[in-house]
Amino acid sequence: MNFCSDNTSGAHPKILAAVTAANAGAAMPYGNDDLTRGVEKRLAEIFEHECAVALVGTGTGANALALSLLTPPWGVVYCHPESHINSDECAAPEFYTGGAKLVAIPGASGKIAAADFAKVVGAAGAGTVHHAQPAAISLTQATEAGTVYTRDEVAAIAEIARQHRLAVHMDGARFANAVVHLGCTPADITWRAGVDALSFGGTKNGCFAAEAVILFDRAKATELGFRRKRAAQLWSKMRFLAAQMDAYLEDELWLVNARYANELAARLGRGLAGIPGARLEHPVEANEIFVTLPERVIRGLEGEGFRFYRWQGEGSTLLRLVTSFTTETAHVDAFIDTARRHAAAVAPAG
Ligand SMILES: Cc1ncc(COP(=O)(O)O)c(C=O)c1O
Repeated sequence: MNFCSDNTSGAHPKILAAVTAANAGAAMPYGNDDLTRGVEKRLAEIFEHECAVALVGTGTGANALALSLLTPPWGVVYCHPESHINSDECAAPEFYTGGAKLVAIPGASGKIAAADFAKVVGAAGAGTVHHAQPAAISLTQATEAGTVYTRDEVAAIAEIARQHRLAVHMDGARFANAVVHLGCTPADITWRAGVDALSFGGTKNGCFAAEAVILFDRAKATELGFRRKRAAQLWSKMRFLAAQMDAYLEDELWLVNARYANELAARLGRGLAGIPGARLEHPVEANEIFVTLPERVIRGLEGEGFRFYRWQGEGSTLLRLVTSFTTETAHVDAFIDTARRHAAAVAPAG
């Protein structure tokens, strides 16, 4: 009963089957195969837009590669302090961009507010040789707090970016969870709202190593190719990444999986909200829950074999719980029942 991360899930059987099927026969290497071409076509259809696509093996690779196309080495990339690029990528974005500076803009529940962005970028000293130059903003969708930017929130930030000639990147490691939460089209919260580049996640939601950098302007397609090779992300047997992504997109498996994970997160959130001493720290909008529980309840859960992260380290009573396409409803219900039982055992009388 593991709620540590959506990365604890295996790969979806349909995706494994597609990889096995792709194993037959010879295929041209380095992305010059039919499966890769097919994925590029499918993504253009799904996003209702021509795009340049580069499949890569990790989300960090997708983010760092995408950002390297959006900023010069002297540029600033604005992001949330808790964003994966700022907190969890070991300075890969700085490395791939040749030294661009990440500047964090705090905001409630994992989101940057448009007004805060406007204030920071307005005071950045654009044009002054002494200052790193505003170049891009990166939004995480769904956020690291399990919340989702609305279409209007993305558009408002992108409009400010446009006024200041900044590019907009979206870290969509959990993009599918955001799309199903909003009930929108993929286009609505990307290029139609002003997003230039998307890191389209697959690994957390059914694949085992497949992410796509998607540029909504093909002008940089050639540069994307060179940068991917230089970043050691041009897989010789690309057909196996493409097979994963192809099966992920087929019959909307990416949305089916995300819908399931979101539903279980909502169920878990609802169940925990009714437990004495429990506090949900953010709205549950995607597949992550941040909940503070009494220490004794947490110990009770740990003692009964539930696994999760204490989000602020040892002794922290803030937990992150993550659901995925492999989470079992019975495990969610068992988590709620166990937490309730331990809370009741210690609740003061009256
Ligand atoms: C928001 C976000 N972006 C990107 C990633 C990609 O990470 P990785 O390089 O581990 O695939 C993750 C994974 O945890 C993530 O949560």
